[in-house]
Amino acid sequence: MSDILTEPLLRPWSIEDIESVLTAFASDDMATQTQAPIVLAAQAEMWLAPRMLESPRAVSFAIDLAGVAVGEVALSRINPDHGTAWISYWVTPVARGAGLATRAVATLADWGFDRLELERIELAHRVNNPASAVVAARAGFLVEGTQRAKLRYAGERFDVVTNARLFSDPAPAFAPLEVIALELIG
Ligand SMILES: CC(C)(COP(=O)(O)OP(=O)(O)OC[C@H]1O[C@@H](n2cnc3c(N)ncnc32)[C@H](O)[C@@H]1OP(=O)(O)O)[C@@H](O)C(=O)NCCC(=O)NCCS
Repeated sequence: MSDILTEPLLRPWSIEDIESVLTAFASDDMATQTQAPIVLAAQAEMWLAPRMLESPRAVSFAIDLAGVAVGEVALSRINPDHGTAWISYWVTPVARGAGLATRAVATLADWGFDRLELERIELAHRVNNPASAVVAARAGFLVEGTQRAKLRYAGERFDVVTNARLFSDPAPAFAPLEVIALELIG
């Protein structure tokens, strides 16, 4: 397979991603990424359904590696009045450590600044998620503060580190991913 075919890209979700979604959410550290467990095909389909629709408030991309969805990067809470949005991301365990999340987050931030005319994109991660902190910093997000005891998982409370990147912030150096957006194929 040529390098062109194996180069990762951001693309819309499809119903054919059900197996990839089930694989991703089988990982322990993904359980906190959803409100309800995703172990059945029907649950994966419900997770996919809103992501396959165009919405003025949210846009989600599959991080595609050789035709397989190995992660998600998404903008939500898009607020055109304030030019703000929230960015979230995950990568399935087998594809981690290769810089995919960093490239995906930096690419989608630029896409949001350019295509949605955003001026501020926010994210947050638990203090015990150093991989996410690395991704945020490398994608150009600056730490703004700590929200104490913000989240509770399995009875334990966690501080959360808030980050943001402004359109006017220095752009990070990264290798951008190709972006295939819904509007381009719809
Ligand atoms: C966080 C996450 C998206 C990172 O994905 P990824 O594709 O592996 O990220 P990248 O490869 O771009 O960068 C991760 C970096 O963190 C580093 N890292 C990983 N675990 C680490 C740890 N425990 N301590 C310090 N650094 C760590 C990696 O080594 C890598 O740096 P390197 O390139 O110098 O080796 C992935 O671990 C994940 O999906 N986790 C579960 C969901 C999640 O936490 N999402 C974010 C919610 S805020």
